[in-house]
Amino acid sequence: MAVKRIAVLTSGGDSPGMNAAVRAIVRYGIKSDLEVYGIFRGYAGLLDEDIHKLEFRDVSGIMEKGGTFLRTARCPEFKVTNVRDEAAQILKKHEIEALVVIGGDGSLHGAAFLDADHGIPTIGIPGSIDNDIFGTDMCIGVDTCLNTTMEAVQKLKDTASSHERAFIVEVMGRENGYIALMTAIITGSEAAIIPEVPVDYDKLSDRLLEERKRGKINSIIIVAEGAASAYTVSRHLEHKIGYETRITILGHVQRGGSPSAFDRSLSTRMGLHAVQAILDGDFGKMIGLQANTMARVPYEEILGRKKPINMELYKLSYILS
Ligand code: ADP
Ligand code: F6P
Repeated sequence: MAVKRIAVLTSGGDSPGMNAAVRAIVRYGIKSDLEVYGIFRGYAGLLDEDIHKLEFRDVSGIMEKGGTFLRTARCPEFKVTNVRDEAAQILKKHEIEALVVIGGDGSLHGAAFLDADHGIPTIGIPGSIDNDIFGTDMCIGVDTCLNTTMEAVQKLKDTASSHERAFIVEVMGRENGYIALMTAIITGSEAAIIPEVPVDYDKLSDRLLEERKRGKINSIIIVAEGAASAYTVSRHLEHKIGYETRITILGHVQRGGSPSAFDRSLSTRMGLHAVQAILDGDFGKMIGLQANTMARVPYEEILGRKKPINMELYKLSYILS
């Protein structure tokens, strides 16, 4: 039987582009004769029945906005089977026949359980600045985040050069070093310290000193929060290199901002494909970007799998700095 009523929610850490995905889902859904409901505040809002019908014009002017107008939440109790059962009953009561979940690895686990164990067909869309979700080359928000880190580090380089200082810049990435590694590459920084690769502070400080001898007047080290704090890195390096260091923690500024052109287009494509999968009755999958095409990846192929860091890129960051 064809689905008539669907819902969408955003969950976990927000990421720029989530709004564009919601807009595409609402508009393509309505144009395909579906009723589309927005669930506010992620799984927490679902349990509170914070569910509202969305019309074509409700999503006007949201594509260019950062964050998520549906808002988001963390809802740890959603890991409990009985709680998800309750959520499934609420969706059934509202006659919602399919759910699109936009979020990170944790949120997609919730979607997979709803689909497999609680009789709620779901489609996932990967939204996380960490780019740590298996089965997609890029997640929503990554590109905008990297534009933000790039601009910030570029500005730090100006003042680092003037004062001939080293800067330790801490970026997000609790579990992985993608943001740190890419930021180091696109800013020509000296090193990326990431959770995937142990750091040798003696070697690193020798390199920094060597570069100074060759005439380099600034040094920028990017560290992922999951590898070490900027303070720890500074403590290890400062007494070895013998010149001043300064610390910058970029923090949540990395999660905000108007989405980049890439993120707007990626999110829009993913939103459209999520609705198309629903229309095809093809559930239990995440929409992923693979070699520039939209793929429908079964949850069991992605969840519980760690996306490895690209070691070629890691080596590249050293060769070019
Ligand atoms: P993200 O989705 O950005 O990775 P979290 O890991 O905080 O963020 O997960 C967001 C929400 O997804 C959690 O607060 C919880 O409601 C739900 N969730 C996370 N892990 C699971 C799980 N193993 N089973 C069911 N729901 C989960
Ligand atoms: O999952 C994205 C992320 O930005 C991580 O890189 C970061 O550690 C975490 O979220 C911080 O989340 P919050 O401060 O919202 O709990």
